[in-house]
Amino acid sequence: MFQQQLRIPGPTPIPERVAEAGRRPMINHRSAPFTRLLGEIIEGIQWAVESKNKVLIFPASGSGGLEAAIVNLLRPGEKALFCSCGAFGARWIQMARRYGVDVVELKIPLGQPVIPEDVQFVLEQDPEISTVYVTHNETSTGIMNPVADIARVVKQKQKLLVLDSVSAAGCVPMPTAPEADVVLSASQKGWMSPPGAAIAVVSAEAMQKAASSRLPRWYLDFSLMAQAQAKGETVTTPPISVLYAMHEALAMMREEGRDEIFLRHAAVAAMTQAGIEALGFALLAQPGYRSRTVTAVLHEGGKEALGQLRSQLMQKGVVVAGGQGELADKLFRIGHLGQVTPADIVSVLCSLEDVLAGGDGMGSGKGVAAARSALAAFTSSPSPTPTQHSRPSRKST
Ligand SMILES: Cc1ncc(COP(=O)(O)O)c(C=O)c1O
Repeated sequence: MFQQQLRIPGPTPIPERVAEAGRRPMINHRSAPFTRLLGEIIEGIQWAVESKNKVLIFPASGSGGLEAAIVNLLRPGEKALFCSCGAFGARWIQMARRYGVDVVELKIPLGQPVIPEDVQFVLEQDPEISTVYVTHNETSTGIMNPVADIARVVKQKQKLLVLDSVSAAGCVPMPTAPEADVVLSASQKGWMSPPGAAIAVVSAEAMQKAASSRLPRWYLDFSLMAQAQAKGETVTTPPISVLYAMHEALAMMREEGRDEIFLRHAAVAAMTQAGIEALGFALLAQPGYRSRTVTAVLHEGGKEALGQLRSQLMQKGVVVAGGQGELADKLFRIGHLGQVTPADIVSVLCSLEDVLAGGDGMGSGKGVAAARSALAAFTSSPSPTPTQHSRPSRKST
């Protein structure tokens, strides 16, 4: 079968072993084998995000997790800070407003990160804010926010911190000292599995708040799910095939090793970004905050030319994503998370070079050369996480 290079930021390619596991026969979801499966997945996720917090798994896509983190933690009219630096931050605000939350918005220009000092400033100005919502990796702009520093600021102010880590968890280190109170992710991203399971990693403090918060909910209720999971079950019928897949994907992740996974993501991101820039494109995301899981590439040629570029890539088997919202006709995005190797990035860059050269298979080789040197520089660096964080020029608002 023709193998496409699915280089969108999720759903991500599924390794054959994982696909095979997803085809296993159904089991009773109220039985010892299911309890074992669920327990091992929970342990695997805790290992990947370096947390002992409660892992809750909902039958939903990532947006279900985003909604769960609103309805479980807030009361109508409660003040919460949403740090929004792109389409997924905007989606979260839209959800919160529909639930009657008193949203304080820290709106960041597209392509720039959330700055911890700005968060601190807002929290000092407005002590009534109870909870801070931050997109860890803004998939629409290719920004990875400095969440460890943000966590320090938010926890110092004794507020709850919720991270939309849908497109980062499992691929990059999470804040550990202090941790976020809720970390959200989804099976189809770094977890190399099909869509269908939303992950919420929830602190004791957040569970306590959930027990007394007053927004209506049932399907996404943290307490109900925690009670069911304590008995080795889920509240409703779980997405069993997705869970089989996740179980196998987590086994693969453990075989590779957590630091090795983080290093691989950092390396493929550095390769992609160096290669793309060497081909003359500009990146939307500010240097120092460029995502290790997705690269947003600016394209000046307008809607038609961008569409043509993407369809020419598709003819070579490479699928890249378009832009979202107001960036729809201005950029394309390359996903490099989950199952992705340096060779995949070389292959994407080769195809792009060929397309840019008119499709005759005689690409310039400049992108591939830059990617190879980025990889070489990278592999000679002893640190698994070499790319963080220069202070940007933007002033606090
Ligand atoms: C950062 C982020 N948040 C939320 C979502 C929403 O996830 P889903 O499409 O699975 O509902 C996505 C999906 O791409 C995402 O990248």
